[in-house]
Amino acid sequence: MPHFSRRSFLHLSAAASAAAMFRGMSEAQMAAAARPAVHSSNAVVIDSNENPLGPCESARSAVAAIIPQGGRYAFNLSVDLAKTFAQGEGLNPDWVRATVGSTPPLGLTVLAFTSPKRSYVTADPGYEYGLNLATSTGVRVVAVPLTKSYAHDVKAMLAAAPDAGLFYICTPNNPTGTLTPHADIEYLVANKPKDSVVLVDEAYIHFSDQAESTFDLVKAGKDVVVLRTFSKIYGLAGLRCGFVIARPDLMQKIMVRGGWNPMPVTAVVAAQASLNEPQLVAERRRINTTVRQQTFDWLERNGFTYIASDSNCFMLDAKRPGQQLREAMARENVLVGRIWPSMPNWVRITVGTQDEMEKFQAALQKVMKA
Ligand SMILES: Cc1ncc(COP(=O)(O)O)c(C=O)c1O
Repeated sequence: MPHFSRRSFLHLSAAASAAAMFRGMSEAQMAAAARPAVHSSNAVVIDSNENPLGPCESARSAVAAIIPQGGRYAFNLSVDLAKTFAQGEGLNPDWVRATVGSTPPLGLTVLAFTSPKRSYVTADPGYEYGLNLATSTGVRVVAVPLTKSYAHDVKAMLAAAPDAGLFYICTPNNPTGTLTPHADIEYLVANKPKDSVVLVDEAYIHFSDQAESTFDLVKAGKDVVVLRTFSKIYGLAGLRCGFVIARPDLMQKIMVRGGWNPMPVTAVVAAQASLNEPQLVAERRRINTTVRQQTFDWLERNGFTYIASDSNCFMLDAKRPGQQLREAMARENVLVGRIWPSMPNWVRITVGTQDEMEKFQAALQKVMKA
């Protein structure tokens, strides 16, 4: 029998304690820390925006083949990876750096462009890693509610922070999976305070048919930094690989704070093999879109409310404190989450496999009837 613990987020005395607890944690760590301790090892895990498909076949083979060279730093492999990516995207290879996932460059960008005098401006609800880091370094954090269509409200963000050092835009957004139009990001870039920087997190871009990358703004020499990761569509979250894309002067300011760490060779070869698969992104996008749409259709047929998403996650109206739903679902061996303080009755759901989503539906039906 799995052990059930009542320890939960709800039992922390205030939201502030929760924020303090999560400071410095990434998505996976936050999800794991807030996970009800009730599930067994065969639980359906749809609480961390991971890709249930994992690495593609050629990435798996590349990882196995590189093991004998695991004693080498092999910097050349990271340089080759950045070159392959840059060529594919029409970017200058000097403007691209491979990183150990996108978490390190996200943190380094916050450290580079914010200070007690230069605020960090983000969306609410939004991905909290930068917010938590900025808070812990004494930076003023400005969290601006999303618009009615769940895009970043760039005009409100500009108005709220004339002292901005860094604007963080995540599109598709985590947790809502919704897009911020390219034109809005252009507007933000054109109207931001001098010397501030716009950080665009494109972690989930591959899941969307409509999302437009902001690489064009980087290429045009704007004050824009873009992050990409192999953790989502490529299924390499546990291997750790990402990219930071920026003008060389911005890149230097970011990377000088500890960004030049060697990469795990396993991650680099898995990423290279994944990039060499011409159909991989389109195929996985199709799978995610199909399962997501089937889930939405089921939710609609059964009277549930959700936010339509363009990503591998979406927000579901729990019609009760989200943590209650989370714990009840965990008792059914389905792990969902996370929950954002500004949407306490909503729970983020990651799109899993068809089989996992059917288990999710059965558990949800049971829990909501109870
Ligand atoms: C929006 C966003 N950015 C960045 C990350 C960090 O991902 P990683 O460090 O695995 O690349 C995550 C993780 O879920 C995320 O949701």
